This record gives sequence, structure tokens and C-alpha cells, in this order.
Amino acid sequence: MLLTEIDHIAIAVRDLEAAIQYYAAAFGATVHHREVVDSDGVEEALVKVADSYIQLTAATRPDSPIAKAIDKRGEGLHHVGYRVADCQAALDAMIAAGATPIDRAPRPGSRGTTVAFIHPKGSFGTLIELVQENPTTPH
Ligand code: CO
Repeated sequence: MLLTEIDHIAIAVRDLEAAIQYYAAAFGATVHHREVVDSDGVEEALVKVADSYIQLTAATRPDSPIAKAIDKRGEGLHHVGYRVADCQAALDAMIAAGATPIDRAPRPGSRGTTVAFIHPKGSFGTLIELVQENPTTPH
């Protein structure tokens, strides 16, 4: 079994502050980590749940994948991050199993992780992100 944890579920939102306030009011949740990922055009707020995260994600520019997803389908569940020990090995295994990669090779993700995205087409309609924590990844 290559998966070690559900790393995060990512929820696309229009207004990050409103989403953070809602999670605080509803669950008493506090933001554990916040980061702008310029290369992806997103800003994330991570709420920690046990050893997983709820990743509230908003677009920082109109051509961001999150902006496009919200335009197309509205706010809501965007992808699931599966934690793996070795992103490259998991990516290779998924491709061998017939998955359609979005990233041909692992690349840097938020929290100092190494990630690769798999297209929902061929993965039963779910956008999957493989997430490898590195020695420097904060918890
Ligand atoms: Co993610």
C-alpha cells in the first residue's frame, strides 16, 4: 500500500477570509498554515485535523486552476491529496495502472512538500494529488 495518510482535502472557495471565519465559527478551527503558491495562482489556509488537513483554497488570479474550477462548477471539493512516502514511485505506479498524469514529474507543493497531480479522467472523476512530505516539511 503506497498511501500513508489522507494528506488533505482541498475546497475551492471564492472568499478565503469568509471560509476561514466559517470554519472557525462552525468547528472552532484555527488556521495551522497559510501560504500563497504563486506558481499555481492560489492562496491556501490549512486547518489541521489529526494528521490531515482541510485546505481552503482561493484563486489569486483569473487564470488560476481554482478560478477556472469555480467558474465551471462553483465552489466546493476540488481535489484530494493522498500522502505517500515517495511521490515519484506513486506517480509511476499510478501511470502503470492507467492513470493520466497532469504532472509528468513531481514538483514542489505547499508546506515544502513534493507533489504530482493526476487527472480525474481515468481516476473515477477525482482530481488526485500525491503528496510527499520532506524532512523540512513543517507539521
Ligand atoms: Co492540494
